[in-house]
Amino acid sequence: MLKKGNEMKAVIVYASVHHGNTKKIEEAMASVISADVIDVTRKIKPDLSGYDVIGFVSGVYFHTFHEGIKKCIEENMSSKGQKVFLVATCGLGYRDYTKGMKDTLAKKDVLCMGSFQCRGWDTYGIFGKIGGIAKKHPNDRDLKEAQEFVLKTVCKTNN
Ligand SMILES: Cc1cc2nc3c(=O)[nH]c(=O)nc-3n(C[C@H](O)[C@H](O)[C@H](O)COP(=O)(O)O)c2cc1C
Repeated sequence: MLKKGNEMKAVIVYASVHHGNTKKIEEAMASVISADVIDVTRKIKPDLSGYDVIGFVSGVYFHTFHEGIKKCIEENMSSKGQKVFLVATCGLGYRDYTKGMKDTLAKKDVLCMGSFQCRGWDTYGIFGKIGGIAKKHPNDRDLKEAQEFVLKTVCKTNN
């Protein structure tokens, strides 16, 4: 586990409403950086003011992050020196679903330290008829890569 300096406080704001895929990633990441965790589908107006590092972690729903995450970014983020990272889990891994959020953050002058994406079991729509796609994801390797990403990102932030 990463020993945080006194000056660094991290929070992961997440949404995971389909199969809990994103929650698995959130838990793996939070455990290695000792982050606070906020389920945005339960807490509509989270207070992010005391944090140096904020991770927005979401399943992908209709090509984009959960509405609650988008609202949270819209209402809470501005160029106050807070560092952000983005994480998505998605059924189809052929495009970078974090790009839209990166653009939103850039327009607000918020620094995005990096992004991570992996596949997650998807039974939405027609995929449900075949038992879903990306059935075993996130798997152990996805979780390990997620942890490596967040450690690298937060260490970068700490320096
Ligand atoms: C309503 C809905 C829409 C989805 N839209 C997409 C999509 O546009 N692209 C994609 O790759 N996956 C899509 N998925 C699959 C999810 O992004 C994927 O299963 C993700 O891991 C779900 O995370 P969760 O279990 O944490 O909610 C969708 C799933 C649902 C339920």
